[in-house]
Amino acid sequence: MDLVKITEGATKLYVPDKNKYKLDSSMPVFFNDVMKLNRDITVEILKKYFNKKKFKFLDLLSASGAKGIRISNEIKTSEGVFNDANISATKLIKKNAKLNGLNVTVFNNSANKLLKSDKSMYDFIDIDPFGTPIEFLESSIARLKKNGILGVTATDTSALVGTYPKACMRKYQSKNMRTFFMFEVAIRILIKKVLDEANKQKISLIPIFSHSSNHYIRVYFKRVNYLNNYSDRICTLNYCTNCLNYKLTKKFSKSKRRCSCGSYFFQLGPMYSEEIYDKDFVKKLEDINKTILLIKKESQINSFGYYDYHKIAKKIQKKELSKIDDIIDNIIKKGYSASRTHFSNTGIKTDMKIKSFMNILKR
Ligand SMILES: C[S@@+](CC[C@H](N)C(=O)[O-])C[C@H]1O[C@@H](n2cnc3c(N)ncnc32)[C@H](O)[C@@H]1O
Repeated sequence: MDLVKITEGATKLYVPDKNKYKLDSSMPVFFNDVMKLNRDITVEILKKYFNKKKFKFLDLLSASGAKGIRISNEIKTSEGVFNDANISATKLIKKNAKLNGLNVTVFNNSANKLLKSDKSMYDFIDIDPFGTPIEFLESSIARLKKNGILGVTATDTSALVGTYPKACMRKYQSKNMRTFFMFEVAIRILIKKVLDEANKQKISLIPIFSHSSNHYIRVYFKRVNYLNNYSDRICTLNYCTNCLNYKLTKKFSKSKRRCSCGSYFFQLGPMYSEEIYDKDFVKKLEDINKTILLIKKESQINSFGYYDYHKIAKKIQKKELSKIDDIIDNIIKKGYSASRTHFSNTGIKTDMKIKSFMNILKR
């Protein structure tokens, strides 16, 4: 394998030369430098969450070990366990551990086999698959210690954002379509699925941090004492494509529900209805990148969804638009909270109702 030496964060890594291999699952060992953001955020979250305390983690689908090696090297109180089914990957993990002078455990096993045979419990488990994480959820959740963190990445975004509703139903058992806040819907559907799997084992998880990009969705869950209110945290999103109004209800209705504009709502979900961040925890994170900076602001606003002002303006046929920061200022002047969102360059997170938001755009 042709390798190059790079530095990511404070860590040196040997990775496959991207000029020699196509960036897909056919690479001899998978490595995507765009996922640096994902790895940077993982390191920052674990630093602040474990706060100099010892913790044991499992990088379940390690590939080159990039993420786990960074955790081991950049958080010295961690004890790292790595796994990948690809033998070339496990050789590369060992090489990367040696490069950074780290002592780590490396397995070359199928992920679920490892989790079922090795009965270790972990403070942090990372699931970073090709596509959906579903097949790894049950066995990972069973190995998570109380107060432990489960990091879940999903790269099957087209199902989760509603581009392929049938795939979303098949994999996540949620009805979906593209809405103007589809990236948040994607996160809420993924959370519902993970909580569903945990609830089957009478384990409760709460999301403490979530983020998304065009390529993936990522959520961090904390294992908490069993809460038997799982269904209270799940909702149906009633979405009107005619006037863009939406509201939440507890259950799907067998009969069609009408929006106040007279059209019928599309009923989407089930999906998670509560906060997708732990607001107090988010405040502790350093502003290491734009994503965290924006999430620190948007996580303080109580709202379900965000408004994509370009899409909404198109719907109300408003051609000339104010700058996004001026729109946000106008919302705040009216006494509401508002912020940009990491979900979209044209997204605004606010507790203002959609009708009033449209009036602001119309001005
Ligand atoms: C997307 S890559 C992981 C990327 C890595 N976390 C990083 O930050 O660079 C997914 C990895 O999972 C491995 N994999 C896929 N299915 C697996 C399974 N069932 N058991 C173990 N490893 C598996 C693949 O060999 C691949 O290396």
